[in-house]
Amino acid sequence: MNITDATSAQDTAHFLVDAAAWAPSVHNTQPWWFGTRGSTVTLHADPDRRLNVADPDGREMLISCGAALCTLRLAARRLGLTPQIRMASDPERPGLIADVTLEPAQPPSEDENRMYDQIRRRRTHRGGFRPESLPAGLLQALRTCALDENAALRVVADPRARIALGALTEVAEQMLRQKPDYCLEMARWAPRPGSGRRDGVHEDAYPRDPERTDPHFAQRDFARGHGWGLTSDERHGAPGVVALLTTKTDERAAWLQAGQALQRVLLHAAGNDVSAAFHTQALEIPELRDFVRTHFCDGGHPQMIIRLGLAGREARSVRRSPEELIRP
Ligand SMILES: Cc1cc2nc3c(=O)[nH]c(=O)nc-3n(C[C@H](O)[C@H](O)[C@H](O)COP(=O)(O)O)c2cc1C
Repeated sequence: MNITDATSAQDTAHFLVDAAAWAPSVHNTQPWWFGTRGSTVTLHADPDRRLNVADPDGREMLISCGAALCTLRLAARRLGLTPQIRMASDPERPGLIADVTLEPAQPPSEDENRMYDQIRRRRTHRGGFRPESLPAGLLQALRTCALDENAALRVVADPRARIALGALTEVAEQMLRQKPDYCLEMARWAPRPGSGRRDGVHEDAYPRDPERTDPHFAQRDFARGHGWGLTSDERHGAPGVVALLTTKTDERAAWLQAGQALQRVLLHAAGNDVSAAFHTQALEIPELRDFVRTHFCDGGHPQMIIRLGLAGREARSVRRSPEELIRP
């Protein structure tokens, strides 16, 4: 493919953005947009989609953008292109995240193809997991995925530490629910059924009656007392493997690395039919995030709290189209 040719450059950008849009993002805010210039695609954060109350520093926004960047890179590899990434740090254009220049290269490896195939299939799980263990060797492979992106996946093996993290999640969830501005922000991103929106967390993405696990990890209150959500008899009961995604430092570049590591871990897990649930409430409250850092992260900075396991039917999700995401 001659990617400098105007038409195919547009087709390539469309292909890449169509895939990148399926990255996970906090509350499915999809806080990104893309530009194109010849064979370069630019990724930008969209601050209008930042959670000003829950995420005033834009940490979760940039983790989400990092996940989109990882996905864009994999989609480029699917086309046999090498993405040359130049991370931006232009104070005049703070929203610009990266220039991705595409150069012809070798066809994708089997591993790259397998991860690409999971991009649209992967979903956030919001419930218990089946009690079976994860496939042998998977956790080590997931740790390597995180390390490859300059982050660390720390499995929380001590049962007391898992209980403590579950309790911190519950405390955080209850504290957040007491804040009216936080509840208003949730309402913006958890639309009522039938809204027709292509962003936010919809009623078919979470259970009506959240399953309790032991230890329990509180779910976000997307339904806000309206009784929305999926009804299901599926009850698996197990919390799964609890893990923290951490970075060595805690600034813009680290948050983007965390996002790329997160998506690589999730896609590799999905390729082994392993799903992930996210519980980031405690990391949205500075005192609790400090506590998690001091007691559970071995000097690293906590970016995500996740559970990994085998699930049944996955929820649904929505995304905006490339036409909405590519700006001249
Ligand atoms: C930084 C970040 C934080 C998240 N925190 C939570 C969370 O606390 N609870 C939750 O249910 N999902 C959480 N998610 C998952 C998003 O809600 C999910 O990715 C989004 O709704 C899109 O749905 P999908 O992952 O099924 O495609 C988080 C995702 C990211 C990237």
